[in-house]
Amino acid sequence: MSLNEETKPGDARCPDHPSTKELIKNDKGGAPKPLLEESYNFLGDEDIPYERYTSEKFANAEDEHMWSKVWQWACREEHIPEPGDYYVYDVGDRSAIIVRTEDNEIKVYYNSCLHRGTQLKPANSSGFCKELKCPFHGWSWSLKGELEFLPCDWDFPHVNKEEFSLPEIKFDIWCGFIFINFDENAKPLSEYLGVLPRHFENWKLEDRYIETHVIKKLPANWKVSAEAFLEAYHVLETHSEGVYTAGDANADYDIFGDHISRFVHTIGYTSPHITENRPSEQEIFDILMGKRTEEGAGQKLPEGTSAREAYAEHVQETMKEKFKQDFSHLTVTETIDSIEYFAFPNAFFFPGLQLSMVYRFRPNGVDGALFDLLFLRPKPIDGPCPPPPEPFALEIEDSYTKCPGTEFLGAVYDQDTNNLLSQTKGFKSSFKKGQSLGNYQEARTRHFHQTIDKYLENING
Ligand code: FES
Ligand SMILES: [Fe+2]
Repeated sequence: MSLNEETKPGDARCPDHPSTKELIKNDKGGAPKPLLEESYNFLGDEDIPYERYTSEKFANAEDEHMWSKVWQWACREEHIPEPGDYYVYDVGDRSAIIVRTEDNEIKVYYNSCLHRGTQLKPANSSGFCKELKCPFHGWSWSLKGELEFLPCDWDFPHVNKEEFSLPEIKFDIWCGFIFINFDENAKPLSEYLGVLPRHFENWKLEDRYIETHVIKKLPANWKVSAEAFLEAYHVLETHSEGVYTAGDANADYDIFGDHISRFVHTIGYTSPHITENRPSEQEIFDILMGKRTEEGAGQKLPEGTSAREAYAEHVQETMKEKFKQDFSHLTVTETIDSIEYFAFPNAFFFPGLQLSMVYRFRPNGVDGALFDLLFLRPKPIDGPCPPPPEPFALEIEDSYTKCPGTEFLGAVYDQDTNNLLSQTKGFKSSFKKGQSLGNYQEARTRHFHQTIDKYLENING
């Protein structure tokens, strides 16, 4: 009898290899508690219809019932450090202006003039202003949102200035990210984020700065684009150069409530797919260090130390040199692994030291998406913190490697982009009409759709 016949759907795991939780627990120094929390239930195995990605009607339903009600991060606090700084966040046709007032308060307004609707600030812009002045007829609001100037007010006896303050959008802050919600009745962000605040207590993303920010146009629906990052199942075929050092098939997947899911895959453990001639710990270490033994440049792995432990130590040393602070308190997994939390509907947070990315996916038409890719790094302990960089814009055909600082991972992300275009085409030419997902490794994708459905059905708001 095979393993699959003995177990219920969703119970099967990659055979003959330790899970990620087992691996990281056994690292020297162990693993932080949140990463050992297990939370997975079988969510069903029905096909997910391709229509959900290709239909205009479905996209409109998402816009009306989901984007209008979810918490989504709009910018970081450091994007608006001084009074008068503003940042415009756009998602679909929705647009919000986040400003810092003279009293150092943050306010978020609908980016639309109360006279004839003109956007007060251009889409995706940021900068400094003393007031919010409409470029059409010049109605002007203070940073606090009070209507201060209405040209020819004799012609508008029906406009009471007190009643023409800019309507506000709900916001809250988590780990330096300013989240907004277009639903004035939305439940608090802390409740929405579920386990996230507790899990990130010691990871303090608020103490990091944005080193790199790329905005890349992707040739696929925003959900397909995000889903490319929800599983490590594709590593074997798509990123095959990584299999000697990436624990893919034995990665862990966890789902915490409606809005949060997570995967952790280890660096420095050879893929379970490699069944013959698995590299030794010394060989893995050499690959991680970019040095093959045959070149004679390999550094000898200390006795009793695993490749990943030694590599983590090396990364901590390199980071110490670069960021002038000590990271030796971090565990191996926090230092090198791919630890990825997804916050529904469109944000990914990596708390790791080396892999410290943030992703955000926004719709750009039905068959397109905007992908914000950020690298966050530890803020200097003393001395000034670099200001957020201007986002580096990449078109669909541009390689990520064009952006300075993303050369290495850029080549990996390019491999993902190729899949996105093929999937979009394949959705439309498919006989089958839906995708069949793995019960465990692709559970986060199913969960993503199930949460969308809760919004579309208005069960959960
Ligand atoms: S539309 Fe804004 S002032 Fe007229
Ligand atoms: Fe990928």
